[in-house]
Amino acid sequence: MSDPQEPRPSAEENQAQDIPEILPVLPLRDTVVFPDTMIPLTIGQERSIKLIDDVLAGDRLLAMVASKDAEVETPGPDLLHPVGTVGLAHKMIKLPDGTMRILVQGLQRVRVAEFVREEPYLMARIEKIEDEARESREVDALRASLLSVFGKIVALVSYLPEELEMAAANVEEPGPLTFLIASTMRIKAEDKQDLLEEDDVEQRMRKLIGILTRELDVLELGSKIQSDVRGEIDKSQREYFLRQQLKAIQQELGETDEQEAEVNELRRKIEELALPEEVGKAARRELDRLTKISPQSAEYPVIRTYLDWIITLPWSESSEDNLDVKHAREILDRDHYDLDKVKDRILEFLAVRKLKDDLHGPILCFVGPPGVGKTSLGHSIAEAMGRKFERISVGGVRDEAEIRGHRRTYVGAMPGIIIRAMRDAGTNNPLFMIDEIDKMGADWRGDPSSAMLEVLDPEQNVSFRDHYMDLPFDLSKVLFITTANQLEPIPGPLRDRMEIINLAGYTLEEKLHIARTYLVPRQIEANGLRPGQVRFQDAAIVEIISNYTREAGVRNVEREIGTICRKIAREVAEADNGSRRRFTVNVKKVHELLGRPRLFSDVKRRTSDPGVATGLAWTPVGGDILFIEASAMPGDGRLTVTGQLGDVMKESAMAAMSYVRTHSPELGLADDYFQTHDIHIHVPAGAIPKDGPSAGVTMATAVCSLVTGTPVSNDVAMTGEVTLTGQVLPIGGLKEKTLAAQRAGISTVILPSRNEPDLEDVPEELRQGMTFVPVERVEQVWEAAMGLRLDERAAHLVEAGDLIEEAGELLEKARRKAAARAAGADTAARPARRPAPKTPAGKARTKRRAPGKAARTPAKGKPARPKATPAKPRGEAKKTTAARGRSGRRK
Ligand SMILES: Nc1ncnc2c1ncn2[C@@H]1O[C@H](COP(=O)(O)OP(=O)(O)OP(=O)(O)O)[C@@H](O)[C@H]1O
Ligand SMILES: [Mg+2]
Repeated sequence: MSDPQEPRPSAEENQAQDIPEILPVLPLRDTVVFPDTMIPLTIGQERSIKLIDDVLAGDRLLAMVASKDAEVETPGPDLLHPVGTVGLAHKMIKLPDGTMRILVQGLQRVRVAEFVREEPYLMARIEKIEDEARESREVDALRASLLSVFGKIVALVSYLPEELEMAAANVEEPGPLTFLIASTMRIKAEDKQDLLEEDDVEQRMRKLIGILTRELDVLELGSKIQSDVRGEIDKSQREYFLRQQLKAIQQELGETDEQEAEVNELRRKIEELALPEEVGKAARRELDRLTKISPQSAEYPVIRTYLDWIITLPWSESSEDNLDVKHAREILDRDHYDLDKVKDRILEFLAVRKLKDDLHGPILCFVGPPGVGKTSLGHSIAEAMGRKFERISVGGVRDEAEIRGHRRTYVGAMPGIIIRAMRDAGTNNPLFMIDEIDKMGADWRGDPSSAMLEVLDPEQNVSFRDHYMDLPFDLSKVLFITTANQLEPIPGPLRDRMEIINLAGYTLEEKLHIARTYLVPRQIEANGLRPGQVRFQDAAIVEIISNYTREAGVRNVEREIGTICRKIAREVAEADNGSRRRFTVNVKKVHELLGRPRLFSDVKRRTSDPGVATGLAWTPVGGDILFIEASAMPGDGRLTVTGQLGDVMKESAMAAMSYVRTHSPELGLADDYFQTHDIHIHVPAGAIPKDGPSAGVTMATAVCSLVTGTPVSNDVAMTGEVTLTGQVLPIGGLKEKTLAAQRAGISTVILPSRNEPDLEDVPEELRQGMTFVPVERVEQVWEAAMGLRLDERAAHLVEAGDLIEEAGELLEKARRKAAARAAGADTAARPARRPAPKTPAGKARTKRRAPGKAARTPAKGKPARPKATPAKPRGEAKKTTAARGRSGRRK
């Protein structure tokens, strides 16, 4: 019902009116009339029409009071607010539908004291209410703020004319100002009524400011949404204009459309690049095809992508090599401890390169167990030479297309990893590391190693052809370094073209040094600690190396050091003055932070029984010790070999067995021992597949130890292949094996004498702390490992045989004498004392065996044999020894 206010009436008219005590009351629905304002009202109800008629006929004064409930058609006195406004009715228009419109001017706030009449319309006695106004700085401030909020609203709202702001500013009195502003705004009737009832002007101003501020928030939010929407539209319009302009420019340049622009751009790039002739030709040919087909055709993006590859590949960009040998040495030494052979090889390469420019990159192959620094060495070399470093892994790659790409005719074809890596490198002479070259596979999809051959063969890689590119790419400037854990699986032709550099594992001392100088500082930094804030005692590092890790490299050592640093970092972060604290890591702290040691040496325990020998094995992850167990049981001479062994290892078990069998007489075994016994050879840790011939001597020793009942010394480990004639043949991986022996706490290593020159590779400090026993024959192994000497043993056995014979003769003589005497003395009781020459002696021997055996097993197991011999009962025979062997087996 309420409408925007019309211009204010003049002040004189206000004062001119004298307000009577009793006035007709016009109920208002959903609207409030304020003093000093003009408002148009629409009157429809009959009683109201009558009221207006009467008022207009009289002094034109009436009281207007808002109804509490807008829904009620004809509210009674109880439904009307107690405060209203006295107004002066102006013009009246009767409309054709029977309603009438009048213009009323608010004059004075009044309170309805009592209703004096309800029919035909309400009449009431009224009392004037005056504003309570004070002058104060606060009121001034409120006024200013009210005007400012109102000004903002006027600026935002279209239904309020701008002059209103000026009009409001001209109203000095705060009371009338509040009514003027409130009457112009579209605010709720309740709020308006609330303002009308407020006598205190200051309070009223506050209330109005609150209402206006709320209103302003809503308005501002709405306008923000609007301007956002507008922004979107503006942007797309702008783009549209720019495109139009671009089109115009292109037209001006003679480029009719986008496709042509794209082709021109590509052509420009191709001309700018110094492409090899064949490549340039191919690029131009593809470009021509591109101009002839529609951008919508499926072929377009294929050619486009191909051209992009041509443009981005580094056909002729090279980086400048830094050939300063001294500088290279510094970088290599800075990052890696020792590894002198490798470093020397790198420096030699640099030196030759310096003298002769057109040298092809050599293809180096770093072979060694995990964590010995193969990859990180590659990084350092790249840094030293100032080359880009690119690394790919071909482990598990079975598909030739992975290396060489797919032909472009395939959907989604891409170049292979080599070309992709070259693009990433951005130069044609990066240091290119190919990891896990020993783990490439082959299947029906082709053999990736033949593709690899093309990459790595200096004769062929000048023009390496990727299926996708179908253009020769020169890889000859690349410095390839491949890495592998083992050499054997690398296909022969590939191996042939690479220069193998072995990186064996590290000794305890080397690990200690690496940890101290490289790993600890690196981990301290990596965990956000200050340099020098944590100090690792050497004993603590040794504890980590020997009781928490068992590996050839240093990766786990680094990880454990990292764990300790991390835990310390947490302590630092949690303490108040943590960053100022310093820490010393000793053995106790290691136990505290890493928990109880996880690894123990079990060599002593395992070899305490006869029939167990310690071998040394080489595995792709470094050397390891290996317990070989043998046992015998009644049977018919079968040999069982278990423990996931490969064919080679099984065969060498058979060879070892045969050798022991051939020597059963010297070992003092019964002639039929192996016909009446089954032998079982087992290599525990069955989850790990094992193969290779080098466990031959260990198996022969385990069986020999079993059948002779002699335990193998617990600080000895051995390696070597064995032939049927008992020769010990050389083996590989001596350094790794020696390191493994050291890790397991072994002090004597038996090795084939033809491997003796390899001892040079074994680090000096390791050689000093260990005894090496070079051997040529299995018997020498047995002597070194168990103190068993076959020749002596045989001599003793012969001697024993002679003695027995002698004893037999003496016995026979004595018997004969006795018989003669008995015949003389005629004693019938004697015959019972006559022992059957063999059986009783055998029995006696068997019983006496146990102590004899114990005497043969001295703590160190070495010089056992000579001493053992006297301990043997004199009457011992070959058979006796065999029985002894059996008893050993029974264990
Ligand atoms: N001689 C060394 N001096 C200093 N740090 C070394 C040395 N050897 C190895 N390291 C460190 O040991 C960590 C493991 O080395 P790296 O990753 O190069 O092993 P890897 O031989 O490539 O093993 P994998 O065969 O598992 O790939 C690296 O952080 C490296 O810096
Ligand atoms: Mg690596």
